[in-house]
Amino acid sequence: MDKIIFFDTTLRDGEQAPGASLNTEEKIEIARALEGLGVDVIEAGFPVSSFGDFEAVKSVSSLIKRASVCGLSRAKQKDIDAAGAALKKAKYPRIHVFLATSKIHRKYKLKKAKYEILRQAVESVKYARKFTNDIEFSPEDASRTEPEFLFRVIEAVIKAGASTVNIPDTVGYAEPEEYGNLITAIRENVGNSNKAIISVHCHNDLGLAVANSLSAVKNGARQVECTINGIGERAGNASLEEIIMALKTRGDIFSALKTNIKTSKICKTSRLVSKLTGFVVAPNKAIVGANAFRHEAGIHQDGILKKRSTYEIIKPKDVGFYETGLVLGKHSGRHAFADRLKNLGLQLTASQMGKAFICFKGLADKKKYIFDEDLFAIVEDEVRIVARVWQLEDLEISSGIKSLPKARVTLNKKNKLFKAESSGDGPVDACYKAIDKITGIKGKLLDYSIHSVTAGKDAQGEVSIKIRAREKIVSGRAASTDIIEASAKAYINAINRLFLKTHHNEPKINC
Ligand code: KIV
Ligand code: ZN
Repeated sequence: MDKIIFFDTTLRDGEQAPGASLNTEEKIEIARALEGLGVDVIEAGFPVSSFGDFEAVKSVSSLIKRASVCGLSRAKQKDIDAAGAALKKAKYPRIHVFLATSKIHRKYKLKKAKYEILRQAVESVKYARKFTNDIEFSPEDASRTEPEFLFRVIEAVIKAGASTVNIPDTVGYAEPEEYGNLITAIRENVGNSNKAIISVHCHNDLGLAVANSLSAVKNGARQVECTINGIGERAGNASLEEIIMALKTRGDIFSALKTNIKTSKICKTSRLVSKLTGFVVAPNKAIVGANAFRHEAGIHQDGILKKRSTYEIIKPKDVGFYETGLVLGKHSGRHAFADRLKNLGLQLTASQMGKAFICFKGLADKKKYIFDEDLFAIVEDEVRIVARVWQLEDLEISSGIKSLPKARVTLNKKNKLFKAESSGDGPVDACYKAIDKITGIKGKLLDYSIHSVTAGKDAQGEVSIKIRAREKIVSGRAASTDIIEASAKAYINAINRLFLKTHHNEPKINC
């Protein structure tokens, strides 16, 4: 039986999505979740690109023991050296070298002739072999490369020692049949293609990333590169959860293929990635969207009650989708709380558990019933985020339809309190202006959305925002029963992420 290797690039291509930024602790947490999910290769970053990426690949390498850990590198010695150094402690290190091969990239980006590209590709693969035998080569923009030239490059890099050759559809231009045919053509025209795994890496610019990946698999590709929730550059990458569930659900077509993915961990991993990147999952997103298993129409509900498979092609539990249940309240004790977190798969250290319990009690004073979603919000928003440069200490708002909204904000930085006041177009605007005065960072709000974590008038509102500041786009998210407080915390969360992006050595203050 053939195996499909799942190569997850959430921490590299996924993190390249504008607004997604992960610190090392967050990358480690996601890497652990990916390993638990059964991913075979974790692309943890692009070590030469920044100190933060180097450190993240290094830390993930020393912790992950079952999956291969991969570092991306241009076809340059200094990049390969950085990747090799970052991967030193990895049990199964992989270096992923890429070099563009298409005419448009050769002419305008690289300004190099075909023979120079060929030589550079071969030399870089040979050089990378000094660090590990597991070398992947990507002819960037492969799907727009002249096939004859692509075949020559692939043959040469395999001869030079590449054990995986990835065929990126870098700009999401391919169409499924055409892309599948390209994979077949590679297998038929590259003499030594059976000496390497053929991999695929599809972007979603035309919404075809998953379809293209599946077509490639049908035509002999045996590694798929993908991300959780399909996050990534521009319209994103092929989504891991959609590929694996298509392979499983359509076992009639893909029955000869096995994978290591434990699908029951999909929803948990999806939620973690969404929380830590700040990228909200659309309710109608396949497999992991909140509505993916909800049936609204009467006819559908009737069918579901009679036989679930009338309208359900996947069992929700197979992807770890849970339904909201009433769980805890004001009188619930520490034991019941810890037990519920455990059942939800939320593993915390003793000190995190202590903090989470305090947050839970605080919430239970404001809100009668605490649902599973509230617990996720507490753990992911309040407890696990370790890098807090600024924290909200206090917030006073005066607002009315006929009076000018005003905010008085107190922030804490390294146990020192900073206060500012401002008016604004509304209470949130006033609050953000006051925060800007304190931090000295003027954030331009690009996106603001709020949704209620659960039903009920006392539900927590979860605010997700995206801001542009200091030429970077960062996102922030926070939940509270008070939506102005949630808005302020989400903004501060984004500012803290900005600090992470620009000051890697900024001291970390825990909540
Ligand atoms: O999309 C792309 O071409 C890439 C390569 C680096 C593999 O991400
Ligand atoms: Zn890509």
